[in-house]
Amino acid sequence: MSRTRCDRTPAWGALQSAFDATGHAFDARTAFAADPDRFTRFSQTAPHVFADLSKNLIDEATQALLLDLAQQTGLAAHRDALFAGEAINNTEQRAVMHWLLRNPAVAPVNNSESAPKNAALQGLSAELGWIHSTLDQMLAYAESVRADAAITDVVNIGIGGSDLGPQMAVLAMDDYVMPGKRFHFVSNVDGHELAAVLKRVKPESTLFLVASKTFTTIETMTNALSAKTWFEANGGTDIARHFAALTTNVPAANAFGISTTFGFWDWVGGRYSMWSAIGLPLAIAIGAEGFREFLGGAHAMDEHFRTTPLAQNLPVRLGLLDVWYRNFHGFTSRSIAPYHSALGRVPAYLQQLEMESNGKRVDATGETLPFDTSPVLWGEPGTNGQHAYFQMLHQGTEVVPVEFVAVKTPKHDLPGHHNLLLANVVAQAQALMVGKVDAGGHKHFTGNRPSTFLLLEELTPASLGALIALQEHRVFVSGALWGINSFDQWGVELGKVLAKEVEARLLSGDVSGVDGSTSGLLQRLRA
Ligand code: F6P
Repeated sequence: MSRTRCDRTPAWGALQSAFDATGHAFDARTAFAADPDRFTRFSQTAPHVFADLSKNLIDEATQALLLDLAQQTGLAAHRDALFAGEAINNTEQRAVMHWLLRNPAVAPVNNSESAPKNAALQGLSAELGWIHSTLDQMLAYAESVRADAAITDVVNIGIGGSDLGPQMAVLAMDDYVMPGKRFHFVSNVDGHELAAVLKRVKPESTLFLVASKTFTTIETMTNALSAKTWFEANGGTDIARHFAALTTNVPAANAFGISTTFGFWDWVGGRYSMWSAIGLPLAIAIGAEGFREFLGGAHAMDEHFRTTPLAQNLPVRLGLLDVWYRNFHGFTSRSIAPYHSALGRVPAYLQQLEMESNGKRVDATGETLPFDTSPVLWGEPGTNGQHAYFQMLHQGTEVVPVEFVAVKTPKHDLPGHHNLLLANVVAQAQALMVGKVDAGGHKHFTGNRPSTFLLLEELTPASLGALIALQEHRVFVSGALWGINSFDQWGVELGKVLAKEVEARLLSGDVSGVDGSTSGLLQRLRA
């Protein structure tokens, strides 16, 4: 791996000097006054997404230094290693190839006319063949479920990447979902969640999708077993028709009693898996054609990331800003504000994407990092957030960069609403930057609070795919600069192990050798 960690480059020191000299005092309002072309200069068009970056705390000189940083860390080579299928997930010795799931099918590479555009893909044509035969099978199955009027409810049982992606996308594509099918998502081991869904469905009209890359996750296995028990106890007999498993571990699904299975590969990370069989709920919801458009939108963004020079590369520009804010300004979080109610689960989805990928305190070689990594990601759809936490964004003591997402053309025809929605999102970004002078203090807005504005023409399967691929790649960029492995998640293991031990202690009452607080809680729970 030809990577140099960001803090070991000359550009890192140059950025720190620039920040100390003037960067900390940068004012976007002054920058706009001095440069009538700032909006154009700091805008970026990418497939399906227009980005206005001009309200960020950045000037040409900083941008040039950040690009130097990208070059000196070997970002382009690391990106090329991703797209060549190298084992960049070094702690698990795995390639990272979710992007390959979005690559259109190609004819055999010995026909130079139809060889893949990406030279690196020539070594991956066998994988591409599997991917497309698996995709074809899954989409044929999705179409058969769509055509089966007797199936009215689809219940996805999965957690983390096996839940957040399909759940976010099915909600986002609400306008494309076929009538006559309802979608439910059960993730939590808290039985209230499954019980509430089981109250609303009937065995004969329900399809359960058990989604788990590993087919070992305790929440999913517990929920799947309870669903199967409920199904059989309520007269259900045909497991092959009413249960399907989406997993890389087909033998475990078979052993569990599920014979209808759709596989994928260990080089697809959980939080990057909705492009695989894990996307089946979305494929059922919007159909094979819609799902292929979703993959196509993401592929267009992959090509943008793979081939566009760094200075005009939107994921690169966003990832560089993320590093600038986290490591030089010291901003601890980023708020994501989608101004579209169907994008309501996007913040939760992005939390896993960013924080599970880049929430790391050591670099890829295991060395402790002397700088900060993943920010906290949080948010709610607008305009709701405005009436909750935007007070803090405008007047709080901490500066939180905000990422607005807006959609130009609505899918409803209710008069007035969309104009008002768009007016609000533009006004919030404006208010954060321009502020308001008031001598009294309470009504004073400091302004100069940074935001990025992402604009989609329309919310379609293709634009959703592009938006999500954009986010995946910007997380790749900051992770690459920080020198970390963005594709493992060892930090979730300890809690899983301890939960098993605590479960046994809860049943037995044995608190010997545990810390005082855990022991106190266990005794209180058993009393
Ligand atoms: O929380 C850890 C994690 O491994 C996530 O990365 C993953 O998305 C989730 O659990 C679910 O895993 P699986 O799909 O194997 O059930």
